[in-house]
Amino acid sequence: MSGTLGELDSLLAEVLQALSEAKDAVEAEAVRVRTLGRNGMLTKRFAAMRDPALPAEEKAALGRKLNEIKQRLEEALSQKSASLRPSGPRPKFPEDLTLPGHPPEVGRLHPITQTIQQILAIFRPLGFSVVLGPEIETEFNNFEALNIPPDHPSRENFDTFYLKTGGKAPALLRSHTSPVQIRFMQKHQPPFQVVVPGRVFRPDAVDATHCFQFHQVEGLAVAPGLTFGDLKGVLAEWAQGMFGSSARLRFRPHHFPFTEPSAEADLSCIFCDGKGCRVCGKKGWLEILGCGMVHPEVFRAVGYPPSTVGFAFGMGVERIAMLLHGIDDIRLFYENDLRFLRQFP
Ligand code: DAH
Repeated sequence: MSGTLGELDSLLAEVLQALSEAKDAVEAEAVRVRTLGRNGMLTKRFAAMRDPALPAEEKAALGRKLNEIKQRLEEALSQKSASLRPSGPRPKFPEDLTLPGHPPEVGRLHPITQTIQQILAIFRPLGFSVVLGPEIETEFNNFEALNIPPDHPSRENFDTFYLKTGGKAPALLRSHTSPVQIRFMQKHQPPFQVVVPGRVFRPDAVDATHCFQFHQVEGLAVAPGLTFGDLKGVLAEWAQGMFGSSARLRFRPHHFPFTEPSAEADLSCIFCDGKGCRVCGKKGWLEILGCGMVHPEVFRAVGYPPSTVGFAFGMGVERIAMLLHGIDDIRLFYENDLRFLRQFP
């Protein structure tokens, strides 16, 4: 019996040798068939164990040996097949070199970025410079200096994300771009006129017209002699550049803490030209921005003299993009759905 077991060892050695010499998957498979296949050498020896003449003791020893060999062989086979992968012939070079290739996807600017650029492109030739500010702000810049003290009821309109600062001075995500007015005026002296694009944050529930983050473009002009007439002129010019020469603006009295007087500007409905339709709710006008003459308290907060005059305005970019492109759900801007984004070449 020890003869049989020894013979099995040399069988294994021989098979492993053959396997290591196999040059491809076909040859490796031939080794497998020869040993573990239906009529394989090892399979036959397993079958031979069913012989009733075989003493139980020998049967157990033989079984153990056969199983051990089978396991070694299976391991060797799977290692071999892993080392041969990828098997088979390499793909052929395409024969027809004149076939068109696959054009690479070309990226494009997000529709919100495009809208911001369109807005800024109208203000630049009117003499406005573009300036930016940070998204994390102080309470002073976002509120106090803009004449919105802590107990001011309008502070609720600028509902705010506060940051955990671990005992340091409170910080927040700016709820509008107006704090950049403060930053700019603290560093510059009039005359100047600037526009400020940027992202702002408010803890609003998300729906078709609200999101917890959106974009604004702020404007600020400070120079001796500026009047509400200048404000109207600049914004009317912008509206026509943005929406076409038939666009008109109307100014309604409103309240903002940082301007006095304040107004909301409505755009003649670009869908019905003011006649009244579903989009404008039959009013003929669309609310489009807030504006006014800068409040003297704001100038005081940045150390400008009381004689200073200027105007300011702020507009929501998403709303303008939605009007321009007839989009009825703000969420489309943030979902990264290429079927939507590809429509803005
Ligand atoms: N900051 C205002 C808001 O977020 C918008 C605004 C209104 C900005 C009037 C201004 C302004 O500069 O004069 O709703």
